[in-house]
Amino acid sequence: MLTQILRRKSLDKIHEDAEVAGEARLKRTLGPVDLVSLGIGAIIGTGIFAVIGTAAAGSAGHIGAGPAVSLSFIITAVACAFCALCYAEFAALVPISGSAYTYSYATLGEVVAWIIGWDLIIEYAVGNVAVAIAWAAYFHQLLEGLGVYIPAWLSVDYRSAHQAAEAVVAAGGSVTPDIALAHEAWLNHPTIFGIPVIFNFLAVVIVAFVTWLLVIGIKESATANNIMVALKIVILLFFIGVGATYVKPENWSPFMPNGFAGVWTGASLIFFAFIGFDAISTAAEECKNPGRDMPIGIIGSLIVCTFIYVATAFVLTGIQPWDQLGVADPLAAAFANLGLNWAAGIISLGAVISMTAVLLVFQLGQPRIFFSMSRDGLLPKYFAKVHKKYQTPHTTTIWTGVVVAAISAVANINEIVELTNIGTLFAFALVCAGVIILRKTDPDRPRVFRTPFVPLVPLLGIAMCVYLMFGLPSITWVRFGIWLLYFTYGFWKSHLRKKA
Ligand code: ALA
Repeated sequence: MLTQILRRKSLDKIHEDAEVAGEARLKRTLGPVDLVSLGIGAIIGTGIFAVIGTAAAGSAGHIGAGPAVSLSFIITAVACAFCALCYAEFAALVPISGSAYTYSYATLGEVVAWIIGWDLIIEYAVGNVAVAIAWAAYFHQLLEGLGVYIPAWLSVDYRSAHQAAEAVVAAGGSVTPDIALAHEAWLNHPTIFGIPVIFNFLAVVIVAFVTWLLVIGIKESATANNIMVALKIVILLFFIGVGATYVKPENWSPFMPNGFAGVWTGASLIFFAFIGFDAISTAAEECKNPGRDMPIGIIGSLIVCTFIYVATAFVLTGIQPWDQLGVADPLAAAFANLGLNWAAGIISLGAVISMTAVLLVFQLGQPRIFFSMSRDGLLPKYFAKVHKKYQTPHTTTIWTGVVVAAISAVANINEIVELTNIGTLFAFALVCAGVIILRKTDPDRPRVFRTPFVPLVPLLGIAMCVYLMFGLPSITWVRFGIWLLYFTYGFWKSHLRKKA
């Protein structure tokens, strides 16, 4: 049994399965520009438009980085760079949909592949829950600016509303706009048979829309993504350009109000802003020339985003005192505080567009991981169905949509961001380990892209991931531990069943 669970799937077998799968084959339509764009589409979103505020100002659960949040971005970017170099080697070598799941099946064996498959759900599906919630917050504000009012009880989750009620009492009435919205939901919600009705309807709507787009076809979705990516870059450059003229250098002092501990916690949270470059690799099977284009897509998109993020962090902390950044829409709020309401409106629109693009890429990635697991027999064959007309894995796409929408309706964003980060850091560390192992077990295989300085770079990648994981609260570790244990147990059970 031990040899069975440690069984690895050879790279040749992985390639062969993908080639002969016949019906279970995806269409090859994506080029290098599509891939960089897919990467940026996944990277720029909730992290830079929402999480940056909590990372800088801190929240009830942790201290903030202050103006040094720009340093947090740099630390996280370095960690991601090491991991990106490892992802790029694998993505070029194993251009099969499934990302870290497929790589670990080839290197670390079936049980680790199974764990990673379920761990990636934390990155993709759980991550998307956070994005859908932040999307709803920004969209609500945007609609309000346009004179359309959606009741507060359809725009937040029950627990945020409850917490807001307590926050309003504690603050003696003066609170930030997002807390005021949640509080309003608490005061004015309908009830059915005495049960309060408060749920995030807007988050459900956006997830449903994105799911529909993905079922009708990847090329159509990639085109929509390209347009949204161009728009979001322009909007962040707009923030940097306009904001730079309002910077007051005194806001940068003290630079590290909570010392390096704040910068570290900030880096662990802001990691959310970088998640996504790896999502490109889930589309490897749909890419025309994966050997050349995968590394370009992964590393290219990471570099572009890092420059934009650090500049945005400097400008944001330069125009607004750091301790006032803890709101749901810090970039828009900073402009609104300067009296630039028109500019704040443009930023809100940009945030909504950016987050839609993120949702698109992650909703695209999750079904492809299920699809690969099903093709390997770790999930029922039902999950590997490809739509006859659209050639997309429609079954898993729809299931992912239903589950993500349901959780987005009720979940709390901060907890979801932390869980996403710990799960993703764990997956990244395993991918780095996989590169070292495969160089030993299969040294002669021609590698179109080679991670430089192996094993140093993968080891640094692992060390940085673990470092960032330790910056997260202990409750996040507990939740993550329960998740992993549950699915590892599921693996043993299903193995024992098969044996019987
Ligand atoms: N990096 C993605 C975002 O910030 C997940 O929305």
